Amino acid sequence: MKATKMKSVSTVAASLSILALAGCGGGGGEKPAAPNAALASCVSCHSLKEGGRSSGPNLHGIVGKTAGTQQGFAYSQGMKESGLVWTKENLDAFLASPRKVVPGTRMGYLGMADPAARQAAIAALAANK
Ligand code: HEC
Repeated sequence: MKATKMKSVSTVAASLSILALAGCGGGGGEKPAAPNAALASCVSCHSLKEGGRSSGPNLHGIVGKTAGTQQGFAYSQGMKESGLVWTKENLDAFLASPRKVVPGTRMGYLGMADPAARQAAIAALAANK
């Protein structure tokens, strides 16, 4: 098992997510062109590996799952009651503005303003299963 990297990527503003991607290379740097580069702003809180743990819920195979249903994760009430299924459409809306789509969410992420960046992130999530 690889150690989970905990980096404090502070999301200065949603529109800076591209800069956040570029600024995320400190430390090991063993994977310069990782396929999950589109998810660089997520991995400070989310593990992408099956069974991996982090401060956010695991995102392995998240596309198609029902929101707020992973065993052992303490979701917000809003997420548990959202009734959402993580289709690509719902992910797009959620990543654009988490708090609009899931009021009361604990996900401390302002959102990804750039539609192309969202599409790249969603494609990476869909491929990560
Ligand atoms: C600051 C930490 C943080 C960042 C950055 C972050 N998340 Fe989250 N995310 C969370 C937390 C905490 C939750 C649980 C929210 C809740 O319970 O309301 C969550 C929930 C989610 C969920 C719902 C999971 C489920 O099991 O229903 C998805 C999907 C998600 N995040 C995707 C992303 C993506 C994609 C990114 C990057 C663009 C990202 N998150 C960035 C902390 C974060």
